[in-house]
Amino acid sequence: MTETPNRSSGGRGASSPQRGPARTEIGDQAAYAAAVQTAVAASAAYYGEGDSPLDDDVFDRLVRGIAAYEAAHPDEVLPDSPTGKVAGGAVIGDVPHTVPMLSLDNVFSAEGLESWAAGLVRRLGREVGTWSVEPKLDGLAISARYRGGRLVQLVTRGDGTAGEDVSHGIGMVLGLPARLAEPVTVELRGEVLMTRAQFEAANTARTGAGGTAFANPRSAAAGSLRAKDRPYQVEMTFFAYGALPVDGTGDAAAARLRELPHSGIMELVAGLGANTTAATPVPAITATTIEQVRKRVEEIAALRAELDFGIDGIVVKADAAADQADAGISSRAPRWAIAYKLPAVEKITRLLDVEWNVGRTGVIAPRAVLEPVEVDGSTVTYATLHNAADIERRGLMLGDHVTVYKAGDVIPRVEAPVVHLRTGGERPIEVPSACPRCGDEIDASQQRWRCVRGRACHAVASVRYAVGRDQLDIEGLGENRIDQLVDAGLITDFADLFTLTHDQVIELERMGETSTAALLAAIEGAKAKPLNKVFCALGVRGTGRSMSRRIARHFATMDAIRTADAEALQEVEGVGPERATILVAEIAELAPLIGKLVAAGVTMTEPGAAGPAETPESDASDLPLAGLSVVATGSMSGPLDGLSRNQVNELIERAGGKASSSVSARTSLLVAGEKAGSKKAKAEKLGIEIITPEEFGTRVAGFL
Ligand code: IVH
Repeated sequence: MTETPNRSSGGRGASSPQRGPARTEIGDQAAYAAAVQTAVAASAAYYGEGDSPLDDDVFDRLVRGIAAYEAAHPDEVLPDSPTGKVAGGAVIGDVPHTVPMLSLDNVFSAEGLESWAAGLVRRLGREVGTWSVEPKLDGLAISARYRGGRLVQLVTRGDGTAGEDVSHGIGMVLGLPARLAEPVTVELRGEVLMTRAQFEAANTARTGAGGTAFANPRSAAAGSLRAKDRPYQVEMTFFAYGALPVDGTGDAAAARLRELPHSGIMELVAGLGANTTAATPVPAITATTIEQVRKRVEEIAALRAELDFGIDGIVVKADAAADQADAGISSRAPRWAIAYKLPAVEKITRLLDVEWNVGRTGVIAPRAVLEPVEVDGSTVTYATLHNAADIERRGLMLGDHVTVYKAGDVIPRVEAPVVHLRTGGERPIEVPSACPRCGDEIDASQQRWRCVRGRACHAVASVRYAVGRDQLDIEGLGENRIDQLVDAGLITDFADLFTLTHDQVIELERMGETSTAALLAAIEGAKAKPLNKVFCALGVRGTGRSMSRRIARHFATMDAIRTADAEALQEVEGVGPERATILVAEIAELAPLIGKLVAAGVTMTEPGAAGPAETPESDASDLPLAGLSVVATGSMSGPLDGLSRNQVNELIERAGGKASSSVSARTSLLVAGEKAGSKKAKAEKLGIEIITPEEFGTRVAGFL
């Protein structure tokens, strides 16, 4: 079997040949030579600057193609070929490792995992009693040397036998204490990475100092750790995944490390004060059967999108020291461990264009138009670019290759340009100097640009939202009709609907007596909607349906909402200081519109709500769903038949629960109707209680 290389000091591994996904087809010797050159250059960049021109999938495909070509043409193998070399042949650093820092072999499926485990059992001639299952952290491998409990040296993995001294990074890495809890002499091994917040902060600092944004958290960690004399400070995080005794110290800890199983070593390491995955939503666990291992692999994969640090797989290890010793190592990887690789959540593609769209609140937001790329199971064509300052900060240009991140339900976002793939043909991104919708001026005083006309700029969109099913639910007001009303100058906001007259409406295109009467009746009916719907219809930035319900229930009247300051607003669940400030500003801005609604006789109270002063905290805890986070999915039946998703969410909240649209580790209950799909599968994986709409109907019978 041809060995494949592994750029895995950063958790970036090439495939195991047996079950990998597609490979780059290499037809002839010239293409093979070019492929070797590209892979070697990419590996060098990855290990050097931490910034490869190829994303993991492309690199893996390329190396698999190289390996396949070499298997078919063994006498053409080039000495430079990255196959069979640790770190793809990129040699960096001159500090010898006490024990080589190995790679991991990979599998890509449950079958691959099973056949690897069966192979290990055959090799040992006995069952593996205990497995350890843990996330594969997507950062760069580090050896942290402690003498007498003091951190004395940090070394990168380099080529596995020698690495680079990056001790200047001591103090920048959370989870890697300068002093351990005991004065032991030990070498910790683990991964240095950046959490999402650390990555954003590092990019802000780096671009602020005139540099280009890092392409992703992994390269940000690699680049930051290796850089000396940086004019700004960045913070990273360490996760230990192993510890080695240091020979000749006579240390009691060293003796313990030699005997303990991997799980015991990790407990000891955590006890010494170093960071491990134990405190994350995906702690390492032990399992006694491969079925349990598979279950844990699925659980970790399901939680990946919610983690605030990157993982690119799951590592399965034989836990017992004896099993590890008997299994031994191959030329570059232990036989007692395997990486179950997950699909890449970050890909490189081209930035073709930037569109500037005006939202219903008048916010002008840029959107990236991308060469379509498959990321985490779906094709991504558009991605968010946040705002103009963000484009500038990331130094993006049209035609750039960019890294795009998407995981689970996350909105795809452009991270950064891949600067070394620039050809010189890239063009600057033009930012609009006037509102792209109405041509009026742009208020650029905030990070989020807005048309100076605010909501009036895109009145059609804000009225359309206000009359939507989950807000005022006014039938007969489609986009065309609203367009006509706006064009005819009859309305500028949705409050104007309430003063429309019969004569004005009947004048509109294709309107007869019956449809006019029906529309006016529907508008009249909307006046009776409860406060939460009216408030939601305002389209306050930072609020949606459930937040509007919480606000309406908390304050009970529009007057109370209008007089609430930021502090009072923070009493509402889910409102933090930042959102509270936006709410106060938005509510003030909307005062004229609210005034018009009051004058038109629209309901300004929430039935059943008492207001903040009179709502005793204990009330809610008696409700049947108190303290539960509930998700509904699939079609509703039984007593819930015909309810919209929003109505089901209202029901959940009336019964004291918190309605949510996505399943996560925090979900307490899933109401799954017919045709429930991925949410049900995810809840099953996470072991969340799942009930039918009928069972749910019984639980909340008093609130239907
Ligand atoms: S065990 C000798 N455990 O993945 C065993 N490695 O692709 C090798 N990695 O070089 C390390 N998370 O940098 C191990 N939980 C984990 C890991 C992990 C990430 C990295 C490590 C290794 C690379 C191999």
